[in-house]
Amino acid sequence: MNKATVFDCALIELPKNHTIKGNITAVNNLKEVPFEVKRVYYLYDIPGGESRGGHGHRDLQQFIVAASGSFDLIVDDGKLKRTFHLNRPYMGVLMPAGIWREIGNFSSGSICLVLASSEYNEEDYFRNYEDYLKWK
Ligand code: TYD
Repeated sequence: MNKATVFDCALIELPKNHTIKGNITAVNNLKEVPFEVKRVYYLYDIPGGESRGGHGHRDLQQFIVAASGSFDLIVDDGKLKRTFHLNRPYMGVLMPAGIWREIGNFSSGSICLVLASSEYNEEDYFRNYEDYLKWK
């Protein structure tokens, strides 16, 4: 049982340090993200037309950024869906536990950077949407 809804998913603007030599954005534990980052992973070399991440998580919290390029993040709580179009390296979506998500419409060369609240654990996943709905 998990009560998170798509309205608990939040688009967050990160601070951007602009210099004439380029920009830097930092993400700190418990500051820009409300959890301790235990894992960082990134999706890259995604073939055109491919979609990723058709799954839900029981406990994992995540913060998702288009570090390069753009993609659509579709969040789903079993009742409602929201689509976030991410296309700036200083914008990210904070996802609480218990949300189903899919990522698609990747631009060529895009990088989906994910900060996660725990290490990889297959048991935390719902791979089947019907199972996810029953749990919700
Ligand atoms: P998965 O989470 O299913 O990717 P996506 O939902 O984006 O398509 O992971 C794909 C594969 O990568 C799966 O076999 C598990 C592995 N994997 C790890 O080993 N560590 C990780 O941190 C992640 C996210 C995936």
